[in-house]
Parts: sequence; structure tokens; C-alpha cells
Amino acid sequence: MKKTISVFGLGYVGTVLLGCMARDGHNVIGVDIDAYKLKLLRDKKSPVLEEGMQDLIESVMNTDLVKVVDDTEYAILNSDISFICVGTPSLPNGSQDLTAIKRVAEKIGSALKNKSEFHVITVRSTVTPGTVEEVMKPIIEEKSFKKTGENFGLCFQPEFLREGTSIKDYDNPPFTIIGGDSKKSISIVCDLFKKLPCDIIETSIRNAEMVKYCCNVFHALKITFANEIGRICQSLSVNSHEVMDIVCQDTQLNISPAYMKPGFAFGGSCLPKDLKGLLYLSKTHDIQVPVISHIINSNIVHIEHAINTVLLMGKKSVLLVGLSFKSGTDDLRESPLVAIAERFIGKGLKLKIFDPHVNLSRLIGANRRYIETAIPHIASLMSDDYEKLIDEAEVIIVGQSHDLFIERLYLLCRKDQFVLDLVGKINKEKIAGEYQGVCW
Ligand SMILES: NC(=O)c1ccc[n+]([C@@H]2O[C@H](COP(=O)([O-])OP(=O)(O)OC[C@H]3O[C@@H](n4cnc5c(N)ncnc54)[C@H](O)[C@@H]3O)[C@@H](O)[C@H]2O)c1
Repeated sequence: MKKTISVFGLGYVGTVLLGCMARDGHNVIGVDIDAYKLKLLRDKKSPVLEEGMQDLIESVMNTDLVKVVDDTEYAILNSDISFICVGTPSLPNGSQDLTAIKRVAEKIGSALKNKSEFHVITVRSTVTPGTVEEVMKPIIEEKSFKKTGENFGLCFQPEFLREGTSIKDYDNPPFTIIGGDSKKSISIVCDLFKKLPCDIIETSIRNAEMVKYCCNVFHALKITFANEIGRICQSLSVNSHEVMDIVCQDTQLNISPAYMKPGFAFGGSCLPKDLKGLLYLSKTHDIQVPVISHIINSNIVHIEHAINTVLLMGKKSVLLVGLSFKSGTDDLRESPLVAIAERFIGKGLKLKIFDPHVNLSRLIGANRRYIETAIPHIASLMSDDYEKLIDEAEVIIVGQSHDLFIERLYLLCRKDQFVLDLVGKINKEKIAGEYQGVCW
């Protein structure tokens, strides 16, 4: 069903939205405080330079579907859904300048005071998690004397278009994410976008706000990583494009959801060793790779975060479930769980370790030497009696995701115990004790 929508902020995001929505047959009221932009649009000229935009604007401004105004009340009273696309630039300290967002919230709130029908406000500007619910919602409620969910709905729908290809990106987004305060608000926004050839993902407003940041930071990370690899390749007379093309052909481990789930630190005999090896190589060739060189620091910070989480619990008896760097192996080299164990021993905690895959009498070579140096009296800390170990522990750290360990923990864990989940496989509803995830 065709709707009347209002678009606040007619920059890159707002103008593309206005043009595409009108092209698709919706009535659109565009609102901006910039009189020059409004004049350009009334003169059928695009205020932004984008491939295809001039033709699009000219064709929709030749219909009677679009109106552009500086009058918020008119836009709110005459539309069903508003999209907020005002700028959210950085302040010198990196924080967001929310001046425009707050101003729009005030004006929309005041206008809603005079509206009896349900109105959905959807934010498309990029805002940090919490902004819609903690900054905009109170302003709109205060100015309108109305309540979210009753008289108006709030959504956040991140925009994924890229300047230069914005109409194409609008029509072919990777996905459409709609975070909303209620099913009702989400379904109203959903209806407008269901023709897009992509999945529509419904979530909370905060999650949607975070997804947008996560995507942009990930894109920046990918670019920087590829460029650092490029500089290293250049210094080694290696073809960086060919290398990265081949790397991208692995869709199982490289370009895939693998390794993309928040969890515990990496370790093992390969990743730390090869990371150090490449860093040494880049150093010897005078190639600076700030992102790659900070990966190990970040991993250490993550291990420290887990250690501090346990220390802050103020308990003495700790059980570590798992010692090798991943389930099903007895490889202890560079296992972050060994690093945790070392620190707890150093801090004087009463540590016990359960890892049935690690049979000390069968460890050989570098693996044996590693653990004997790291934890000299390791044998006295390990036991196979899982039930007794759980019974005696005040804190249980789950470092491996073996189904059997977790199922038995559900049965054996008591109310007075703390559980720190490093693997993200525990259903906290089934844990009698106090559950905490390492980064969730
Ligand atoms: N540009 C992009 O490619 C892109 C992509 C995705 C998301 N975003 C995000 O979308 C938001 C908008 O980006 P943009 O590039 O379109 O910004 P922009 O600066 O081009 O446009 C913002 C517009 O908002 C108007 N405005 C400011 N205060 C207003 C008010 N009180 N009422 C009505 N209009 C007002 C300004 O006059 C301006 O025309 C930002 O949060 C940005 O981070 C941008």
C-alpha cells in the first residue's frame, strides 16, 4: 500500500530516499533547514552529486508525489512515517555531534502534540547505540506529551548506501535491518521495504544501531588489513593483488562467518607464531603495519579482561574447564587458558583444572616442555573427577565447548557458584549459579 512518508535531512541519504520512495509511487514530504537545498529541489535539481540522481530528482519532481518544505508540523501531520536522515558529524574528540538529531527530535515532538494518529519515526542517521532510546525518545515524549508505543513508534534502520553508487546500493542493499520498539512499528516500516531483493532482519533498536557501527568499522578494518598486507607484499616482491584474490577464494575460513563470533582469545601453535613471524619480517623490511602489529596486544587485553573478571568476583577456589587451546586437542602451546592458569596461580588462587584431552603422561616434545615451564607443578592441579572439582569450586571458568562438560555443569552447578563462559555455548537459563559471559 502506498504511504506518505516524510524525510528529514535532504543530504546524500535523505535525497536518495526521497527520490527512490517517490519513484516507487509513495508520496514524499522532504524537510530540510537549508533553504538553498529546498530551492534546488523545487527547481528539479539534485542537491547531491550522485550517478543517476539528477535524472531521478527531475522525474519525481515532475510528478505531484513530492513536496519539499521547512515546516516540520506540516510534514508530521501529513505523513504516516518519518525518516530522520540529518547529519551526525564527529566532534574534535571523536564523539558525535547530536545537535541536528536533538533539534529534529524537539520539532517532531512538538508537532506530534497535535496529531492523533499513530506515527512511526525511523532514524536512518548513523547514531551510537542508545541514542534513539536515551536521547531522542525522552525529547519526543517530553515535547509531545505522548508515549512511545502508544501514540508513536520508534525504529532505527541503518543506511548502507555508499556515495557514488547510492541509488544502486539503495535498490540492492546487503540486507535491511529494522530495529524497533514494537512489532507494530517494525511491521509498518517493513511494509515499505519488503520489495527490496534482500533479507529483512528485525531486531532491537540498540542492536540495529550497533550493527551499523560494526559494519563500517569492519569495512575500515578490511581496507586497512588489505593495505598493510599490500605493503608487506610490495617489500617482498610478492603480487599483493594475486595474494588477496586467492585469500578471498576461501569462503570457509576467510570470507565467512568463521572466527566472527565474540568469544575468547586465540592461541595455539600456529596463529601467534605466524603473526609474530610476519611482524618480524615487516620490521626487517621497515614496513609499518600498525593494525597487524596490535593484534597480539588486543589478544592479551582480552585474556586480561577474563582474568580481571574472575579476580573481581573475590573468590579463592577456581575451576578451569579446559586447558588446551581448543576442544579435542592436547596442544597446550600458546593456549590462552594456560596464560589464565599461570596468572591465577601467581595471584595465589586455589586453581584446579579439568581437561580430559590433556594426558600429562602422554605429552611429548615441545608441548611437554612448554607446559612444564609455564606451570611446573601442573599434575597436582589436574583431575578427571569433574563432579568433585565442580563441587569444590567457587568459580567455574568454561574454556572449552564440549557438550558433555556443559550438560553436566547444568546438572551440578549450585546457586552459590559463579560461572564465567569463555565459549558462548552455555544456556544461562540452565545455570543455577551466577552466569557471566566474557564479552557478552
Ligand atoms: N553519506 C553516506 O554515504 C551515508 C551512508 C550511510 C549513512 N550515513 C549517515 O546518514 C546521516 C546523514 O548523512 P548525509 O551524508 O546524508 O548527511 P548530509 O550532511 O549530506 O545531510 C544532512 C542534511 O540534514 C539537514 N539538517 C540538519 N539539521 C536539520 C533539521 N533540524 N531538520 C531538517 N534537516 C536538517 C542538513 O541541512 C543536510 O541537508 C549521517 O548520520 C551519516 O553518518 C551517510
